[in-house]
Amino acid sequence: MASLKSSPAWKALEAHRKKTTGLHMRDLFADDKDRLKAMSVGLGGLFLDYSKNRVSAETYALLIDLAREADVEGWRRRMATGEEINTTEGRPALHMALRDPGGNEEIISARKVMERICRDVRDGKMTGATGKPFQAVVHIGTGGSHLGSAMVVRALEAYRDGPDIHFVSNVDGAQIAQVLDGVVPETTLFIAASKSFTTEETLTNARTAYAWLTESLGDGAVPAHFIAVTANAGAARDFGIGENLILPLAEGVAGRFSVWSGVGLAVSLAIGWENFEAMLFGAHDMDQHFLDTPLDANMPVILGLIGIWNIDFLGAEAFAVLPYDQGLGLFPNYLRQLEMESNGKSIGRDGTVLEAGGAPIVFGEPGTGGQHAFYQAIHQGRRLIASDFIVPLRTHHPTGDHHQRLLANAFAQSKALMKGRPGDKQPPHRAFEGNRPSNTILMDWVDPFTLGQLIALYEHKVFVQAVIWGINPFDQWGVELSKELAAAILPEVQGETASRGHDSSTQGLIARARKAKEGKQP
Ligand code: F6P
Repeated sequence: MASLKSSPAWKALEAHRKKTTGLHMRDLFADDKDRLKAMSVGLGGLFLDYSKNRVSAETYALLIDLAREADVEGWRRRMATGEEINTTEGRPALHMALRDPGGNEEIISARKVMERICRDVRDGKMTGATGKPFQAVVHIGTGGSHLGSAMVVRALEAYRDGPDIHFVSNVDGAQIAQVLDGVVPETTLFIAASKSFTTEETLTNARTAYAWLTESLGDGAVPAHFIAVTANAGAARDFGIGENLILPLAEGVAGRFSVWSGVGLAVSLAIGWENFEAMLFGAHDMDQHFLDTPLDANMPVILGLIGIWNIDFLGAEAFAVLPYDQGLGLFPNYLRQLEMESNGKSIGRDGTVLEAGGAPIVFGEPGTGGQHAFYQAIHQGRRLIASDFIVPLRTHHPTGDHHQRLLANAFAQSKALMKGRPGDKQPPHRAFEGNRPSNTILMDWVDPFTLGQLIALYEHKVFVQAVIWGINPFDQWGVELSKELAAAILPEVQGETASRGHDSSTQGLIARARKAKEGKQP
């Protein structure tokens, strides 16, 4: 790939940045009373205000040139038509097909199987081994096979009219022990979600669940109580899961883009098929917008470009995701994986070392808790942190004036970050320089459709950035090395094989773990 930094659009942006150092957003707002109108875009239940960024009309035009030069238009088409854009794994990226009401045949037929299971479990037609309807679902999965479903189930709690949903993702036995303590074998359905069906955490937890279930109900109960979602049907069969309860997952769907597939079964069980479909429609709506809208009015393109401006030209190393909605409490974690596993790379898709970009450090938590914890650093810290405020205008929990207070806090934060408070009338520690970038995404409220739009918005944002930086966002080779090492170290920690050949640190840590296991002082 030609050098990104020496491309005409990048060089123009670099020159522009030098020319505009010292530009303050206060002045941008003072100079243009209609700034919000010029720097906002709406789609369905979403409204994106990107006016509180250090971006002038000229910056914006140069960023659009950058997107054009990187051929974002061509790449979005290549993704939509199923080209093998995930080159290191030789796969397409099929998440858009998962929510396409037309979709490809294989995907439609998988969706139908999922719908049947969803309806049968919720109607009580599909029961446990003793004929009792399921009252609890335990979703076992990790990473992309966990975070999306967990985030959505929590976000759409107001729509839950199905069984209780529990999640187990950590190999730390404390988690599954706590979940199993609260459920009853006869009325519990397990979903083992793993694209590879080889992931250590998921299989360890699934085996523990299996043992727990069969201890009460016998081996014969397993086919009635376990569903698998996987691209590796053979391994699921070997585990003991019945053929008709293995939901296929296309190889071309990366885990963090998979909530729209059978991996989202727990979501559909919680909120019902119609609501799950509404979420797919919302995402599809965003897909259409992303594919058909010119770059300069395209929500994901705008978010991606503003992110690149903040990261590469203004030096923002961190990105705070700040939902002002308790139900969206897992959204920062979800986005953390989406951004950091997709774009947290230093080698480009052509195999060369990246010159720029790469995912920022993503963190956040729902307002207003974070205000009393880490916002100090966003307002006055030495490092530039870019923020996205995600703010539903209406709530499912109208308690007194809580929601208006919540909204007031969100709007105050972004205003303070933008405007600051000059130091001339204050002691220095009370001064705020302001000029700190943020986007605000208003949602009508958190319903399945709008949430589908929101998730797809960020999926495409990440894709746009990847295209410009020259990254393949659909692989995750960075997780492999430690997985291999953990498999090798496990028998040593268990005391089954001698521990040797490590550096002194690793050797010493293993030795201490072995002693602890034997009940000895390290
Ligand atoms: O460790 C990273 C990862 O490969 C994710 O990308 C993936 O979503 C997760 O592990 C789980 O993988 P699987 O679905 O194969 O169990």
